[in-house]
Amino acid sequence: MATRNDHLVGLLLGAEEDWPTAFEALARRLGVLKAPGGGEHTVTTERLTIEPFNLRDKARQELVIDRLAHWYYHPREWLKKVALMDDVYLLNSPFTFQSMEKHSAYCALIRLGMHVPETVLVPYKHPVDNARWAYTSSRYNQSFDLDEVAEPLGYPLFMKPFDGGGWRGVSQIKDRADLHRSYDDSGEMLMHLQASVPDYEHFARSLTIGPETMVMKFRPDEPMHERYAVAHDFLSPEVGRETRTISQTVNAFFRWEFNSCEMLVKDGMVYPIDYANACPDVAVTSLHYYFPWAMKALLRWSTFCVVTGRVAKTQVDTGPWFEIADDEALDYQAKLEAYQALADDHFETERYAEFCDSTLAHVDDMVLEWIDGPDFRSLLQSTIQQTYPPHEWERFEGHFGGLLGMWVSDERRIRGSGAEG
Ligand SMILES: Nc1ncnc2c1ncn2[C@@H]1O[C@H](COP(=O)(O)OP(=O)(O)OP(=O)(O)O)[C@@H](O)[C@H]1O
Ligand SMILES: [Mg+2]
Repeated sequence: MATRNDHLVGLLLGAEEDWPTAFEALARRLGVLKAPGGGEHTVTTERLTIEPFNLRDKARQELVIDRLAHWYYHPREWLKKVALMDDVYLLNSPFTFQSMEKHSAYCALIRLGMHVPETVLVPYKHPVDNARWAYTSSRYNQSFDLDEVAEPLGYPLFMKPFDGGGWRGVSQIKDRADLHRSYDDSGEMLMHLQASVPDYEHFARSLTIGPETMVMKFRPDEPMHERYAVAHDFLSPEVGRETRTISQTVNAFFRWEFNSCEMLVKDGMVYPIDYANACPDVAVTSLHYYFPWAMKALLRWSTFCVVTGRVAKTQVDTGPWFEIADDEALDYQAKLEAYQALADDHFETERYAEFCDSTLAHVDDMVLEWIDGPDFRSLLQSTIQQTYPPHEWERFEGHFGGLLGMWVSDERRIRGSGAEG
């Protein structure tokens, strides 16, 4: 009889209920999987709880999807322990996310030759809370003229924290008065000043899970439920490929697994502006039409990692990337191709595709059936009721129900069943 391996996937969650419930329901439906090399596998999920742990405790989970460690440090330290001691695979690893935030991501992409807008890091406005501050700053802090620093960046510019996320402390600076007001308000936050990309044609926001990337048309000025537009070919094939390569390069370089990347496109140039999101938005009320894709990618990639016993590395290996970056014989296009090859290598993209075609061949139909069924409808309804006030429930049920109905129809057409849902 074939051996049966059960793989436990842990979910470390904050306030979300929608996607974890979807993920759990889909994992239950995966059934018994036949691995390419023989053997039978099942995947079980479990929500992690927070409690004292002995450093010598053995982890039962093989993989953890983390949504909490970016602000809650007890589970973050548990994640580091289980990665170090038990090789638990993490989406995402705090080892690189804790030390490599937005600022490091800018630096790395600049060295890799990407078109990151001009960016300057300015010292803290307020004194740092440390007894040595007064002496250190009087001895070593250079006085500087903020206007002179901002001048070459031009107005409007953006001021934002070096480790930002969730629009915290981000402001668009229109002129000198704005600049001084915002800097004075920045207090103990460490701020970047960044040149803006004015009048861009497209805001492309991608979500990458393992080797799978979805590049979506984003409208940051709309309310949350309208931000992702359903648009399939809004970028030219070349620009589309470039946005995908940039997204996968960031993740493979930093060894992030589940991340979103924001890029502005103007005159055929792609400007990456934000790409270190340890906890990317996957709410059904944000992603709507793209939600089934995200759940599928999360399920397939997690399953691939546990069934094939993929081993994570906790540290970044910059060598091969910088070798390409520093090669003067390569132009930007050639570098992108070389980065994509490194990313494919890192994520085992080919092996993953084969795994999806063989072991996970039933997943497309399974997800389609679930999204088109009563359990998902009731999940969508309860999410809407938890998210919006009662007088908006009906409107949002129509809105999201319509978008997901459109996904079902498109998916049926793509999958060739011919039946419109
Ligand atoms: N250089 C820029 N040029 C044009 N727009 C920008 C630029 N930088 C930031 N923005 C705008 O400001 C928004 C917030 O900036 P950014 O994404 O860097 O901050 P954040 O705190 O990570 O926000 P979020 O978590 O919502 O992504 C962007 O979504 C974009 O609309
Ligand atoms: Mg952002």
